[in-house]
Amino acid sequence: MDLRTTYMGIELKHPIVASASPLSEKLDNIKRMEDAGAAAVVMFSLFEEQIKHEHAAIEHLITSGAESYAESLSYFPDFDDYDTGPDEYLNLLRQAAEAVDIPVIGSLNGITNEGWVNMACMMQDAGARAIELNTYYIPAHLYMTGREVEQRYIEVLKAVKESVTIPVALKLSPFFSAIGNMARQFDEAGADALVLFNRFYQPDFDLERMEVVPDLELSTPSEIRLPLLWIAVLHGRINASIAATRGVHSPVEVVKYLMAGADVVMTTSGLLRHGIGFLTTLVDGLQAWMEEKQYTSVTQMRGSMSQTNCLDSSAFERANYIKILESYAPDYE
Ligand SMILES: Cc1cc2nc3c(=O)[nH]c(=O)nc-3n(C[C@H](O)[C@H](O)[C@H](O)COP(=O)(O)O)c2cc1C
Repeated sequence: MDLRTTYMGIELKHPIVASASPLSEKLDNIKRMEDAGAAAVVMFSLFEEQIKHEHAAIEHLITSGAESYAESLSYFPDFDDYDTGPDEYLNLLRQAAEAVDIPVIGSLNGITNEGWVNMACMMQDAGARAIELNTYYIPAHLYMTGREVEQRYIEVLKAVKESVTIPVALKLSPFFSAIGNMARQFDEAGADALVLFNRFYQPDFDLERMEVVPDLELSTPSEIRLPLLWIAVLHGRINASIAATRGVHSPVEVVKYLMAGADVVMTTSGLLRHGIGFLTTLVDGLQAWMEEKQYTSVTQMRGSMSQTNCLDSSAFERANYIKILESYAPDYE
């Protein structure tokens, strides 16, 4: 049975990849993920703010006493909570790339196309086989238009693409008014892969302390629906590879994402909930399912339920929404 897949031009032994998570903060975990069968590992993200914070600190050493220093640092969150600065990140990446045979993908999280972007080049030099770019941006400014937000994504992507020769994946938010059109624009701007979808961590209110509090919950399997829909719609229509991220808690979700058209399927919450050995469960489960259904390769099954390959392509659009609403059987009179 042939489980191989190609992601951004990189050949992988199978499609199951460990997505960005705190697990990759430790070299030992990266090795354990390889041992458990991960086809590739995406490192946790290095944030634009972390890089700028370090630049500002260096600037301060050079221009010590400058009035602007305290003010410029106050723009940034308190980085005492972050374990890793750019140097530590690059060291870890270098060690990981040397220690494992599977591809290690560096992850950058930023929202401007300024100075920090050359960190992508440093990640490449440290041994990253590709860069995953996470543009986590909440356009809370009421005068910022959708077009301006879109342009910001394109500019960051282009800036990172220009600074490296390795492939660049873009981890996307689902909050665009026309995801299909955006995917096409990213494709044209040179994205080597689209990672669908970023999970936005929405804050909660603590009513005792009257504070806005971060609340990071792990995903659930039902969250695959939104990425599943868009992967099925985009499969075969863009040049970029497609990675599925969200809601993989058993081999069933892996199979569904592949049938929709994903080139790789990623997991974080599953690993945090069940441990690193969960990767083996996913690979074995995929293989067992393929055997049972008599598929001989991942290529054979990929995209067989995408919109272009489905007998009823309207199943992905408005007509199906109406059907779904009509099919609901209430248990009340
Ligand atoms: C604790 C935690 C830390 C994460 N850190 C990152 C990160 O540094 N960069 C990133 O792009 N995504 C990060 N993610 C998002 C995951 O990579 C993944 O895309 C998301 O959790 C959806 O997949 P899942 O349902 O398998 O968890 C993080 C997720 C969790 C739960």
